[in-house]
Amino acid sequence: WLISFDFPILSSKEALSLKVGLEIYPQEICENPQFIVGGASRTDICQGDLGDCWLLAAIACLTLNEKLLYRVVPQDQSYSEGYGGIFHFQFWRYGDWVDVVIDDRIPTFNNQLVFTKSAERNEFWSALLEKAYAKLHGSYEALKGGNTTEAMEDFTGGVTEFYEMKEAPKELYKIMKKALERGSMMGCSIDSLVPARFETRTVTGLVKGHAYSVTAVEESQHKASKVRLVRLRNPWGQVEWNGPWSDNSKEWVSLSKGEKDQLQHQSAEDGEFWMSFEDFKKNYTKIEICNLTPDALEDDKIHKWTVSVNEGRWVRGCSAGGCRNYPDTFWTNPQFRLCLLEEDDDSEDNEVACSFVVSLMQKNRRKERKLGANLFTIGFAIYEVSLSMHGNKQHMQKDFFLFNSSKARCKSYINLREVTQRFRLMRERAGWWWISLSHSSTDKDLNTEGFSLECCRSMIALVDMDGTGRLSLQEFRHLWNKIKQWQGIFRHYSSDQAGIINSYEMRNAINDAGFRLNNQLYDIITMRYANEGMNIDFDSFISCLVRLEAMFRAFQAFDQDGTIRLSVLEVSC
Ligand SMILES: *[C@@H]1O[C@H](CO)[C@@H](O)[C@H](O)[C@H]1NC(C)=O
Ligand SMILES: *[C@@H]1O[C@H](CO)[C@@H](O)[C@H](O)[C@H]1NC(C)=O
Ligand SMILES: *[C@@H]1O[C@H](CO)[C@@H](O)[C@H](O)[C@H]1NC(C)=O
Repeated sequence: WLISFDFPILSSKEALSLKVGLEIYPQEICENPQFIVGGASRTDICQGDLGDCWLLAAIACLTLNEKLLYRVVPQDQSYSEGYGGIFHFQFWRYGDWVDVVIDDRIPTFNNQLVFTKSAERNEFWSALLEKAYAKLHGSYEALKGGNTTEAMEDFTGGVTEFYEMKEAPKELYKIMKKALERGSMMGCSIDSLVPARFETRTVTGLVKGHAYSVTAVEESQHKASKVRLVRLRNPWGQVEWNGPWSDNSKEWVSLSKGEKDQLQHQSAEDGEFWMSFEDFKKNYTKIEICNLTPDALEDDKIHKWTVSVNEGRWVRGCSAGGCRNYPDTFWTNPQFRLCLLEEDDDSEDNEVACSFVVSLMQKNRRKERKLGANLFTIGFAIYEVSLSMHGNKQHMQKDFFLFNSSKARCKSYINLREVTQRFRLMRERAGWWWISLSHSSTDKDLNTEGFSLECCRSMIALVDMDGTGRLSLQEFRHLWNKIKQWQGIFRHYSSDQAGIINSYEMRNAINDAGFRLNNQLYDIITMRYANEGMNIDFDSFISCLVRLEAMFRAFQAFDQDGTIRLSVLEVSC
């Protein structure tokens, strides 16, 4: 019996636009379907019609590390022994490994797989992995557009740092070396001005818009000086760098056999090659380091990161305190304390340094995208808390943030799933450090729950001139501009309190929106729109202005000399 229980992973819109036929069983595509043929390798990943090259690049990276790969893709599955029409995969979700079970039907068109497929027609692990990942995120559609780092993390539970080469810290070499010692996965690429789908070869043998893996970082004696080298791998398994230190370059001549052996220098067209760190920095534009947590590393010899995971939430009007431009509410953001116990082994005598990586992640936004969720703009700041507050777990209050400046903070507030940054802080005094992190969303004053149904109805009624109950593009644009303008006013007056304005500010806000009312009307508005605390939220604010706009407009339509006369019929419309 074949069990079938998946909810439709393909949205109907997608099915139409991609001309996807039925999701069918592998047995209907080929005679002898296999889960894995001759080991899972990067050639098993050929991109289909879905814009998910970011995911495939991460899967390619994963195939370089068997231990990690077979954790995500459990090997003991097949189309013969114990086959029941289902397969399972494991992904890391916010601190836990989750098992995703799928039935093995795959979207096709004309009997061909439309999404990811293997070069071997009868091999299906990559297509099934993609389906499981789509299920994790709600649909195939949800996989369109993304960042390789995101998927790398979902496959490893790691924390990814990202550097633009031109802005990379000056100790990048050391960071890379340590990363490899700690078993991190590292990828780099050269930006191409045309979209990443078009990989272009350059005269140096490097390919633009293409992801490489970094497989070693070493130092070697060259003539009188030391030279720092980096080994890279082109996942194609061919096409290599042809500059200094490439496979057959003259630089190798001066090295002894012993040194060459130590670097495992091989002149083979296998996609792997060395280059000097300086050329590496000049030629590549981006580097991503996925730091694995002890959880993903089993080898005891590898130095491991110490990890602490904290959860928090931003609740509108309570803990969504905004960024530091909002001193009155910034302190209400979630705060976390961290004690840094292990100093860097390369600390100097007179100072003690400690390196750590902070990663702030927002959950479930990709999944909720179909409900209109966008990524919040997020970021964090780091404060030093004195040792006397060691046992003191209390939430730091407003004064603390007014009188103490942050020791460090993330480079920018940005709308990515995750903001990650490495820091190296110095300890001047004796004793240990406490770091208090507070993170904040800059979208604090927006109503993230969206407008109420009532509000939407009045908005449409306001601009729907032809009375169809639908908005034309022009009507929509008109409405959009109005809302933008009103949002600006709301933001201005809500800057002191998250997401609300009080009834006093409401008078000024209405004024700014261009309505002149008498006191009686202001009172009525307060009664109608303010809550028990005499505050007005964004939804009510917009409802109110829509109402006023409609009233003024209706009046003007009948107005001749400042007064109007209406028949019963006219009043009721
Ligand atoms: C991926 O991350 C980089 C670096 O943070 C960012 O510039 C880029 O826009 C992201 N791409 C996508 C598709 O999210
Ligand atoms: C890459 O490295 C080579 C060798 O040093 C150098 O000549 C070339 O200018 C570099 N390319 C870029 C884009 O910097
Ligand atoms: C931070 O500000 C508070 C005032 O709230 C002050 O008492 C304290 O000494 C300052 N510094 C530290 C490191 O806490």
